[in-house]
Amino acid sequence: MIKLGVLISGSGTNLQAIIDAIARGSLDASIELVISSKPDAYGIKRAKDVSIPTIALSKAVYNEPLAADLLIATEMQNAGADHSGVDYIVMAGYMRMVRRPILEAFPNRVVNIHPALLPAFIGAHGIADAFEYGVKITGVTVHFANDAYDRGPIIAQRALAVAADDTLESLEERIHAIEHELYPEVLQLLAEGRVSVDNRGKVHIE
Ligand code: GAR
Repeated sequence: MIKLGVLISGSGTNLQAIIDAIARGSLDASIELVISSKPDAYGIKRAKDVSIPTIALSKAVYNEPLAADLLIATEMQNAGADHSGVDYIVMAGYMRMVRRPILEAFPNRVVNIHPALLPAFIGAHGIADAFEYGVKITGVTVHFANDAYDRGPIIAQRALAVAADDTLESLEERIHAIEHELYPEVLQLLAEGRVSVDNRGKVHIE
């Protein structure tokens, strides 16, 4: 069993997929805390509905990235009923990069999901950028976050073919469906202790 802290910024469908996987018993984890970069993120409601503690960053804190990340690191290190902190920080639609205070407190313990096949189409609009470019294959990447935005060690990727009649909306729908399967699966690999990063920054799965 691993303890997770989840970072969100928006609708939180990936958070929901993780909550559902835990409830079904296919992910051996607990979510100890959800922190949102935005006070009105719908994902906060999803967390509250299942009694997960939440924190929404105020605008003043959000506008100071280093202070925000220090606060997040401290809250994640003290989360849980016994204040023993979380094992992993899970970025689930968290639309900013994490900085030194978080990365130093959780080395190789911050994971992110990105809706494209990294290193292609980094940034906040991975699905639309890939669609506009006209790629025939795109997909989803789960990786460890490090100090290079969307460039951390890749844990898992799943590809899908872009169909001739795909619209941006239909592609988004299929990407999200893959995300909702893949993220809980990768978190379960972490729960089983099967994921390691070598000194060249490559991920190995036992
Ligand atoms: C997801 O598609 C996630 O991959 C993406 O934001 C969406 C959030 O959806 N993240 C990024 O683009 C990060 N660069 P959700 O809030 O419903 O989980």
